[in-house]
Amino acid sequence: MAGIVVVGAGQAGAALVAKLRTEGYDGPLTLIGEEPVLPYQRPPLSKKYLLGEMPLDRLLLRPAAFYAENAITLRTGARVKAIDVSSRMLLIGDETVAYDQLALTTGTVARQLPEAAGGRLGGVHVVRSLADVDRMAPAFQPGARALIVGGGYIGLEAAAVAAKLGLQVTLIETAERILQRVAARETADYFRRLHHAHGVEICEGTGLTALIGDHAVSGARLSDGREIAVDLVIAGIGVTPATGLAAAAGLALDNGIAVDGFGRTSDPHVWAAGDCASFPWRGGRIRLESVQNAIDQAESVACNMLGAGTAYDPKPWFWSDQYDVKLQIAGLNSGYDRVVVRPGGRAGAVSHWYYAGARLLAVDAMNDPRAYMTGKRLIEAGVSPDPAAVADADLKAMLV
Ligand code: APR
Repeated sequence: MAGIVVVGAGQAGAALVAKLRTEGYDGPLTLIGEEPVLPYQRPPLSKKYLLGEMPLDRLLLRPAAFYAENAITLRTGARVKAIDVSSRMLLIGDETVAYDQLALTTGTVARQLPEAAGGRLGGVHVVRSLADVDRMAPAFQPGARALIVGGGYIGLEAAAVAAKLGLQVTLIETAERILQRVAARETADYFRRLHHAHGVEICEGTGLTALIGDHAVSGARLSDGREIAVDLVIAGIGVTPATGLAAAAGLALDNGIAVDGFGRTSDPHVWAAGDCASFPWRGGRIRLESVQNAIDQAESVACNMLGAGTAYDPKPWFWSDQYDVKLQIAGLNSGYDRVVVRPGGRAGAVSHWYYAGARLLAVDAMNDPRAYMTGKRLIEAGVSPDPAAVADADLKAMLV
């Protein structure tokens, strides 16, 4: 018996192997990851870990002993080169590894700035792996000039850390406003104000023409014609699903590795979960980049690999930390046509309620955990409070 092999040792891979064991699978189980560290949480990388407030051992999902105790063969620093689905084998270097069932939890890859625009100069970083953050951390010195490229959550979180550590921060965003892809204007306005209050310069509708420097970056030419001096650059310009292995193996792709409601790919012995997988949702297909989805979908796939036959039902939530603001997001806002602003009890506490017609889709709650919890429960129950009343309604009353 070759057993189950999981490729990709991030949040989804780690959740999948753990769930297989708690569900009673007692056959051979291997988790393979190319990074040379035990599986760890990524969200703190652009937050507490970069700030120096979280040590490495707290970043780890499980201690090393967990894998041994659960008879999970964990292979770190091991890059899978190819998968042969017809013989159910994969290749690590020259070594072949057989599987009965395979799960791909390969995640995403950070987009890089183009090489022709100086993207490979020293001092130019992305925030995806522990190694990325360890490499950039020494450059976070008070007074250093940081250019953040991209006004999504990664860019904004990196800007917040840099500003907090005393760097001079400029953030550029090509779209007309920050958070355009993921949040409403009201949420973007909130975070723009917050960053301004911390001295961050935000240039919207502004792209990067080129980075300048010999070996290390020393300046940047912006699309508004300005040339600015910089000591380090962080690109937070999005991620792409890591589909290379799946594509080469001939698996169907559709904005990620295409799986059915159970998490099965186009090959019956291969499954996928997490950031790399797109799954059926409301008549279409969706791919989620979030820890919640990585864990829940991986656990669903683990059960289905053991024969449960239960379709995955996502209950999406996300969060971001910037300065002293905790943003919590419940639901998915795609397709919204209206946003209702609901003031919270304390200064700076507010929530934004996204509607499509009369249907509540999502809630962004800034320092307002009660609004978040209420919104989450309503969305999961499929209940939509009247948009005309939600700004003033009592949260408890909404739930009954
Ligand atoms: N110059 C300036 N801005 C750019 C450029 C560029 N050359 N290219 C892209 N952008 C902008 C996009 O317009 C977008 O607003 O960068 C932003 C990237 O935002 P996202 O696509 O949301 O990606 P990112 O913030 O990198 O987050 C990647 O990590 O934590 C997760 O939830 C997060 O899934 C997301 C992922």
